[in-house]
Amino acid sequence: MPSLATPRPLLRAIKNQVGKVRASLRSQGEALEELFQLFTSDRRHLKRFSYMNDPRLRLAYLRYHLPLNTVRSMCVLKDLLERYPAIAETEWITDIGAGPGSSTIASLLTLAPDRTRRYLLTDQSRSALRVAREIFGDCAPPEKDGIKASITTVQQKLPLLPRFQGPTLVWMSMVINEFDHPERRGIDIKGLFSRLAEKLPAGSTVVIIEPGLRQQGRRLLALHDALLESQRWQVLAPCTHQKTCPLLEESNRPWCHFHFRWQPGDLVKQVAVPLGLVYGKGSMSYLVIQPAKKSGLPGNQDPELARVIGDPMEVRRTDAGIYLCQDGKRRVFRDPPEGTTRGALLKRGRQNRDARLVAPWPGGSPEAKHPRRPRKGRRPPPQTPPEKSEAD
Ligand SMILES: C[S@@+](CC[C@H](N)C(=O)[O-])C[C@H]1O[C@@H](n2cnc3c(N)ncnc32)[C@H](O)[C@@H]1O
Repeated sequence: MPSLATPRPLLRAIKNQVGKVRASLRSQGEALEELFQLFTSDRRHLKRFSYMNDPRLRLAYLRYHLPLNTVRSMCVLKDLLERYPAIAETEWITDIGAGPGSSTIASLLTLAPDRTRRYLLTDQSRSALRVAREIFGDCAPPEKDGIKASITTVQQKLPLLPRFQGPTLVWMSMVINEFDHPERRGIDIKGLFSRLAEKLPAGSTVVIIEPGLRQQGRRLLALHDALLESQRWQVLAPCTHQKTCPLLEESNRPWCHFHFRWQPGDLVKQVAVPLGLVYGKGSMSYLVIQPAKKSGLPGNQDPELARVIGDPMEVRRTDAGIYLCQDGKRRVFRDPPEGTTRGALLKRGRQNRDARLVAPWPGGSPEAKHPRRPRKGRRPPPQTPPEKSEAD
């Protein structure tokens, strides 16, 4: 089963940052706990307080969230490149709300160093951007044959947007839920995306990553529908169609989210284990969009292509099933092909009972529940399908 490891150059760069601060492991753990409080029960403080400017909390972020978010971005980028390899040709990469540069590092270490790439990072926190430059310097390969990766940072507060100089891969990782959380009034997220669509050159791609939690995940689904309705955007992933999200209509309020297996590295485990934090797996919701201008990428509306949006499960009268999102509808598909996990892409004719695995999910599936096979001669007990697996 595939898994994603924190890249070694990043672990070394984080170690360099840890070496610059005098703080016991215990106090680093306490700071990480505080950061978790801030991201969960104390979210209202996020609007006034930039944790990236506090050296203790920033270090805690570097030790846990930076590697986790880097791996989140790597997972999405690998999935994206599978369907849209032309994205690897991009010269401009812009990381909005970059923090210490998690998505920047993911791009730097995932895209082949076969051309010059220009990274632009923006954030409201000057301190985060300073650290991002240092980490980038530790991870970037040396210039070779005139090919190099360059970095520019701009302290900038959303809703301000940077200038784009050519077709750009834009990252917005774990930032929308801070910028647009329910307690912040007067934030016009749709207006922000309208301006972004106007400013972005044709052929640009925007990757939004959010926590794999119900509240943030469903807000992202609502944004998905609003962006399609605006007709300024088309959707590249995870959806395989350009229709409204079927999950928003479901009464049990599921949301589209994906898992990955994560090998974090000892540096992460040192702080994560004493706090009982999850470190072998991660989850996220994500959305990849493109301005609806003429672009170099092929369209995304193959009615036979389906995304798996649930874990394998038992369903009534049969022994295995899986939720698919196909052509704007959620359906249960029975007896999926071997190796199918949440996040995989399947090809399935409309009249066809069979499906073919087109692309496995790059993060594996730590949550996959292996359906029980009924013993010979016994019918499996009736199970209530599905939604339980959506609620984790
Ligand atoms: C959870 S961190 C995510 C950092 C990074 N993208 C990652 O995935 O690890 C959120 C970042 O958004 C920045 N941020 C929050 N609100 C912002 C705003 N209104 N304008 C610019 N940056 C903002 C914060 O300073 C912080 O660095």
